[in-house]
Amino acid sequence: MGTTLCFSLILLITVTDSFFEANSITFWQDTEALREFKNGLDPNSVRPGSCLSSWDFTLDPCDNLFSDKFTCGFRCDLVISTMSRVTELALDQAGYVGSLASTSWNLLPYLHTLDLSNNFFAGSIPDSLSNLTRLQRLSLSRNSLSGSVPNSIGSLSTLEELYLDNNYFQGTIPLSINGLKNLKRLELQGNRLRGQFPDLSQLTNLSFLDASDNSISGELPANLPTSLVELSMRNNQLKGNIPANISNLFYLQVIDLSHNNITGSIPSGLFTHPSLQQLTLSYNDFESVQEPGDSSQESELIAVDLSSNMIRGFIPPFMGRMRKLSALSLENNRFSDVIPTQLTLKAVLPGQGVSQLERLLLGGNYLFGAIPVQLLKMRDPGSVTVRLGDNCLYRCPLRFFFCQGGKQKSLMECKRLGHVLP
Ligand SMILES: *[C@@H]1O[C@H](CO)[C@@H](O)[C@H](O)[C@H]1NC(C)=O
Ligand SMILES: *[C@@H]1O[C@H](CO)[C@@H](O)[C@H](O)[C@H]1NC(C)=O
Ligand SMILES: *[C@@H]1O[C@H](CO)[C@@H](O)[C@H](O)[C@H]1NC(C)=O
Ligand SMILES: *[C@@H]1O[C@H](CO)[C@@H](O)[C@H](O)[C@H]1NC(C)=O
Repeated sequence: MGTTLCFSLILLITVTDSFFEANSITFWQDTEALREFKNGLDPNSVRPGSCLSSWDFTLDPCDNLFSDKFTCGFRCDLVISTMSRVTELALDQAGYVGSLASTSWNLLPYLHTLDLSNNFFAGSIPDSLSNLTRLQRLSLSRNSLSGSVPNSIGSLSTLEELYLDNNYFQGTIPLSINGLKNLKRLELQGNRLRGQFPDLSQLTNLSFLDASDNSISGELPANLPTSLVELSMRNNQLKGNIPANISNLFYLQVIDLSHNNITGSIPSGLFTHPSLQQLTLSYNDFESVQEPGDSSQESELIAVDLSSNMIRGFIPPFMGRMRKLSALSLENNRFSDVIPTQLTLKAVLPGQGVSQLERLLLGGNYLFGAIPVQLLKMRDPGSVTVRLGDNCLYRCPLRFFFCQGGKQKSLMECKRLGHVLP
């Protein structure tokens, strides 16, 4: 009995001693992944003086970070890693019998961040990069990387931020990105990605998504992550309609889908949305705007750009009632209407508790009738920009600041749209 107790106590001391023992050797798979990443690049693109040219794997990466070898490019975190489960202690002196399962821990450096942005690195992403199992932030922005975004990237399950923007990545966006359960920010803009945008609805923490300046085709997915705050897919080849239930993405503050080929109607829900501040849908093929009901006053929208579409008909009156709206562009559409007084009033005399419309761009439409009196009285535009050029307005000489931006259309062109002109 005596020897057992003595043995147990020694064991307990040993366990306590080694508790949180720091080990400076980088987790071997991480070192391996870094090495393979470097080896996979085009050596001519690894310029002298760049982070990567300093990496020397005869030394340990995390242990030599910021020395003259691993000058930059990553950050390490000490992570508690379980080494082995050991003892069970039985202390039975004085009638006490207990057991304690104990574990020996170790602190290992793992790669937390890999940031090689703003270089000229060429080459592709090797599958082995997915072996960085504790990586939280991966940035390869602004390089000359090419090839496809590998499926294996989906196994970086601790990743919170992924920046692959401004490279030459091609092919489709892998569905496996859905595996990045902790992803908050995804930046893919400025590549050569094409095909349908994948269903990423499982990314329940994603708040920022930018896939602009690619060649993404097909329709905007109806099941985007509901956590989205900013959505940008500018300058792609999206077509079809905007799904009406996009307004169920309650946290959205910014939508930019400009420079696509989206058609149909702009859903009314976007104009009564509880948090949307910026709506940019210019340079598409929209044909109409769905008018919301009464609740349009509740809109949080500050800037709305629907320019360069094919929207026809009246300018919906609710636009003049959006209290926070301060920039509205409806330029280069087919609106045909007299200019709604509510809009010009909001630019000239906004009234209590209502934001002034500082930009009201209506040029390039088929607006007709007389120029609203409020505008005529306005000698000094101040900070207000109003553009009414290239319409069908009666007497809008270029000497009025708000008539600039193109002469009024010819009578013939105005009649072509079938108006009854005054
Ligand atoms: C991850 O590392 C292990 C061990 O080196 C290796 O066998 C495996 O192929 C690696 N995974 C990838 C995707 O390269
Ligand atoms: C999402 O974020 C929350 C809060 O930041 C966090 O508690 C949660 O674990 C994250 N992951 C997922 C998959 O929701
Ligand atoms: C929109 O509707 C589609 C299909 O009906 C559904 O899969 C998706 O989850 C909905 N999206 C939102 C944000 O409610
Ligand atoms: C999409 O729009 C662009 C520019 O607006 C246009 O050049 C192109 O022909 C359109 N593509 C389709 C398929 O409509």
